[in-house]
Amino acid sequence: MRAFDPALDSNDPGWRSLFCIPADTSTSAYAEVAYFAGNSLGLQPKATVAAVNEELQRWAEMGVEGQLNGPRPWKDYHEALRDPAARLVGGLPNETVVMNSLTVNLHLLMATFYRPSGRRSKILMEDIVFPSDGYAVDSQVQWHGLVPDDEVIRLRPRPGEDTLRTDDVLAVIAENADELQLVFFSAVNYLTGELMDISSITTASHHVGAVVGWDLAHAIGNVELHLHDWDVDFAAWCSYKYVNSGPGAAAGAFIHQRHATDTKMGRLAGWWGTRTETRFRMERHFDPPPTADAWQVSNPPILSMTPVEVSLRIFDEVGMPAIRQRSERLNQYLRECLAEIATSLPAGAIHMVTPVNATNHGCQISLRFTSDINVISHRLRDDYGVIADSRNPDIIRFAAVGLYTSYEDCWRAAAGLQDILT
Ligand SMILES: Cc1ncc(COP(=O)(O)O)c(C=O)c1O
Repeated sequence: MRAFDPALDSNDPGWRSLFCIPADTSTSAYAEVAYFAGNSLGLQPKATVAAVNEELQRWAEMGVEGQLNGPRPWKDYHEALRDPAARLVGGLPNETVVMNSLTVNLHLLMATFYRPSGRRSKILMEDIVFPSDGYAVDSQVQWHGLVPDDEVIRLRPRPGEDTLRTDDVLAVIAENADELQLVFFSAVNYLTGELMDISSITTASHHVGAVVGWDLAHAIGNVELHLHDWDVDFAAWCSYKYVNSGPGAAAGAFIHQRHATDTKMGRLAGWWGTRTETRFRMERHFDPPPTADAWQVSNPPILSMTPVEVSLRIFDEVGMPAIRQRSERLNQYLRECLAEIATSLPAGAIHMVTPVNATNHGCQISLRFTSDINVISHRLRDDYGVIADSRNPDIIRFAAVGLYTSYEDCWRAAAGLQDILT
């Protein structure tokens, strides 16, 4: 395999210096791991520790007074996250809210948007779906007294193919025009790394009278998003992958303003969904604002929101277009290295699952192996300091993250794979 050219990293260093890169404890000679698991848990920004400590200190010094006083009263804390989160998903501020965790938000949003009525009761989603989304959808169907096998259409790739074709999605939408109530896909698929055509699928779904929701878990902070302009009805995301906000960090939701401004929308309510001006009057009747804030249920978890604020600041400072462009360059380089090692391996030893065209993928490359993936990923970690995650039965996912992955990381991954598979 080609030698690594250090100029690649010196000419295009990204923003790695802003992040804590875990030490490499493998038998390799490197000081830092080659981290490809940002699609699972993003790395910690160096600024996070001080920001969280500040809130802990405030709590120690102020107790309950911190709710109303100090530089950033906790009672309004989520409001500071609204604008930067909106910028990252291409939403308007009144359409965006940081709250809860991802699956909880999906349930809250489906409680509003999945309203089966008569024949219009079906949900279209991908079959290769993160299990939590599948469970959420099935349980929503059951909640309405319906049977998931009757109501949920799970679309599979064509035989012999790994990912969905937009034309096939559009055809199924047209075929089920009268019965579809909700179209719900992952914008970037967790397993294959496929980036869906959000705009076309949303438009086609609206054309047949269906509501459209997107899971952005693997899309936010990875690809550019324009939820408002694409006319998406609702979306939800987590902040612990590409938004680098730490395990279980506060998640987010988008509700298009044509719905968010309608205070009569049905929803599962809690006190934090009431207007800030009246919330502490503790009144009998729910009084929501005409914004996505109305879907909040509980008071904000400050210690899991502070890291989100720190991370969103990085996205604002660097800009999503620059991050995406760099991740495309890294992705291209990793593909070249993989193509090179594939020539020296038995045919089919590595199979690229993720689509080749940049408009159809984010920063993740998913590889299918004929050898045991658990052995491969353990050896990558223990012998080469390469952290990637395997998904049974045969896929290992590599996320070359625009913010902090280096070209050398990509080279190490390919070189490690070549050694292991040879
Ligand atoms: C696509 C997708 N949906 C849902 C989840 C579950 O998220 P949470 O446990 O934060 O609800 C994940 C987690 O990785 C995911 O990737």
